[in-house]
Amino acid sequence: MDGQQVDREYYYFMTKIKKLTGIDLGQYKSSQMQRRLKSLLNRSGMRNFVEYYKLLERDRQALQSFLDFITINVSEFFRNPDKFEELKTNILPGLLARQDEVRIWSAGCAHGAEPYSVAIIMDELASSKPYSIWATDIDASILEKAKQGVYRDVDVKNVSRQRLINYFTYDREASTYTVEPSIRERVVFEVHDLLKDPFPQDMDLILCRNVVIYFTDEAKAVLYERFYESLREGGVLFVGGTEMVFGASSIGFESISPLFYRKPIGGGQPLKPGRATSPAK
Ligand SMILES: C[S@@+](CC[C@H](N)C(=O)[O-])C[C@H]1O[C@@H](n2cnc3c(N)ncnc32)[C@H](O)[C@@H]1O
Repeated sequence: MDGQQVDREYYYFMTKIKKLTGIDLGQYKSSQMQRRLKSLLNRSGMRNFVEYYKLLERDRQALQSFLDFITINVSEFFRNPDKFEELKTNILPGLLARQDEVRIWSAGCAHGAEPYSVAIIMDELASSKPYSIWATDIDASILEKAKQGVYRDVDVKNVSRQRLINYFTYDREASTYTVEPSIRERVVFEVHDLLKDPFPQDMDLILCRNVVIYFTDEAKAVLYERFYESLREGGVLFVGGTEMVFGASSIGFESISPLFYRKPIGGGQPLKPGRATSPAK
């Protein structure tokens, strides 16, 4: 099979997958995505992307494995604990002081450990201000898991003993930790594709962590501009431990400290009017 044929087959696969699932593989890094998918299609006993697509079309189980594979749902509570501490002591108090209602968005929230970590911090801060936490992911099945709020040891390894006592119920038989209903009910989960769905407006804090790793540079650039537009002036974007926003200052962000970017007060005009879409909520 020559390279051109592989490209044609992959193009066919991308086009068909977009129609079948709405997922635009064209916005994920092509060589990495192709390499990863090839190992998956080989494991499924298929010889090429055309055969593999036909399998996905007729076999729901295979389709679910494909979706699980491309979305990679690894997460944990308080991922980069020192940064969540900084969020609690340096970032959130400032946001709570400014707004009547603090609007938080965990974008690409996987099984929910991230938005629940924020909900725990908000509870500890015990502000009288109302707040909302919107948690979204492209993967509907992981969101069902997130709503249940049941976790294993490895997911809660960064959770202090006191927090485990305050906010989780341990099931000795199953060795699982279930998030308290008072925390669970603070988070609204919804399916949302960062590459195509409308973004909400007037957000105070956006967490988008360990999500963009397979996106193309162009897709990342558009995404960060859209986050900027989605934030209120003074609002903050919190990215993953190994990530940085390239061209942050040309978008308009100021870097507060590693992983935290602020939309300045008074400098808040979007650089590219027209990119913004209507609020999702
Ligand atoms: C590695 S997890 C990160 C979870 C959490 N943010 C963290 O840092 O622990 C990446 C998540 O991004 C989601 N994702 C991938 N592409 C996406 C897209 N286009 N829109 C929304 N979520 C997406 C995946 O489904 C997955 O749950």
